[in-house]
Amino acid sequence: MTISSLQLARAEYKPKLPSALTDNIIIKEGAATQSIAHQKEIQEMFPNTYGLPILNIETGSKPLESPVIKVGVILSGGQAPGGHNVIAGLFDGLKAMNKNSQLFGFLGGPSGLVDGKYFELTAKLIEEYRNTGGFDIIGSGRTKLEKHSQFDKGLENCKKLGINAIVIIGGDDSNTNACVLAEYYKSINAGVQVIGCPKTIDGDLKNGMIEASFGFDTACKMYSELIGNLERDAMSAKKYWHFIKLMGRSASHITLECTLQTHPNYAIISEEVHEKRLTMNQIVEDIARVIKTRSDNDEDFGICLIPEGLIEFVPEIKKLIAEINDLLAEKAAAFNALETDDEKFQFVNSHISADSTKAFNSLPKDIQVQLLMDRDPHGNVMVSRIETEKLLIEMVEEKLKEWKAEGKFKGKFTALSNFFGYEGRCAAPSNFDANYTYSLGYVAAVIIESGKTGYMASVQNLTAPAEKWIAGGVPITMLMNMEKRHGCMKPVIQKALVKLDGTPFKEFAKNRAEWSIKTSYVFPGPIQYFGPVEVCDATTKTLQLEKG
Ligand code: FBP
Repeated sequence: MTISSLQLARAEYKPKLPSALTDNIIIKEGAATQSIAHQKEIQEMFPNTYGLPILNIETGSKPLESPVIKVGVILSGGQAPGGHNVIAGLFDGLKAMNKNSQLFGFLGGPSGLVDGKYFELTAKLIEEYRNTGGFDIIGSGRTKLEKHSQFDKGLENCKKLGINAIVIIGGDDSNTNACVLAEYYKSINAGVQVIGCPKTIDGDLKNGMIEASFGFDTACKMYSELIGNLERDAMSAKKYWHFIKLMGRSASHITLECTLQTHPNYAIISEEVHEKRLTMNQIVEDIARVIKTRSDNDEDFGICLIPEGLIEFVPEIKKLIAEINDLLAEKAAAFNALETDDEKFQFVNSHISADSTKAFNSLPKDIQVQLLMDRDPHGNVMVSRIETEKLLIEMVEEKLKEWKAEGKFKGKFTALSNFFGYEGRCAAPSNFDANYTYSLGYVAAVIIESGKTGYMASVQNLTAPAEKWIAGGVPITMLMNMEKRHGCMKPVIQKALVKLDGTPFKEFAKNRAEWSIKTSYVFPGPIQYFGPVEVCDATTKTLQLEKG
């Protein structure tokens, strides 16, 4: 493979670590913890890993040394910038404590553990992947680890290799897997620890202990560059409205962060739609109102940002999706036997409530088909395949046509649709993500050395310079609650949605009226790896605002 000049230069970058990790280390235990909700149920399901103390890594009096440890690492779920650096940090941490320790990569996600597909990650291989984007070093996958038969097969494979610990690098669903696996191995005294690392560009794996998931910083910077470029194009040509759907599955953190970075004319935040119980028609009318006002000012162009998961937050469609999810879980065989779209529509309509039938039939055929597509292995609708941006353009066009006929709209509306998602997931990590991920990997190695299991590596105080970051571990059970999946209640890590009373949303709410009418675009430009600190090392606006 030919290596680009940037990749070559970037390979030399030495990620920064919290100072406690560069010194002699001691791990201190805090108070016992409890889950964020449904304490009784979670405690009953996780008797061996519930209530563990928080771990704080501090400067100690002697270097950390460990016996030879063998660790297996898994990349799970969607790609996020920095995954390779977690592995590099883990590798360096293990080797610093004992140069004979070994790291194995399970291939293609959690299924690699179950199927025994792996190879050893050598120093030479790790060198090639430092500070690069992607998960291609060992590949990723979305297999859900939930059955004891899978856990037992995984254990057999670990025993064959002499593996003492597994590190699962993943989002909320994958870390839920990590927690279940940790509990099971502890319950049978398997002698294999399980540690998680918080990954996802979506930014929805955060809470009091985890300030950000890795990859969010780089992905948002990547999308904001592209949005800025479209803003400049729009204000140059003055003839297009760009409707841009942004990845992020459920939560609108990516849309909110990109909005704060680029000041578009319109941005939808799904959580607000849900809170205000806005219908599709109300959303469309509000967008059309902004288009009309700008047009009255001779500005027939604009930028509208749409979060990927919007459709699941519009109350009538949320109810519809919940009913379809239950139906597809309960009557999968009957549904899968149907051949044509019309047969499927009839089947759905005859099994859902009258309200949901109305909502289903109000949608264009393409969207109806997209709503009935396979769920992912965790039971989620694959929202990245639902073309909400096109649906909104179609509906806004209709509304403006009506207004034109009534003499209320005199301008032009030409819209182009865009979807920014996969473009951002494998970018070379920003300095922030390169440092953060390397630190997370290193922390995971230290937690393994301490013999703990069922923990997620954590690094806090992220708006300070990296040396002042605070390293530690959070019991994964602390992040859990009960939610409905595939038609029944399951213990899962609670997703962090955008808080409407949080400072990032308030900053948007304060400015949005002005940004919608005045053209106030900001052009963040490409991620910079070399140059002034304020350009290269800035954290997301979300983190800055949240941390004050
Ligand atoms: P994770 O939650 O696994 O990090 O994945 C996030 C994500 O990138 C979402 O933003 C998107 O909806 C989804 O993955 C797309 O999934 P896939 O890669 O399977 O198409």
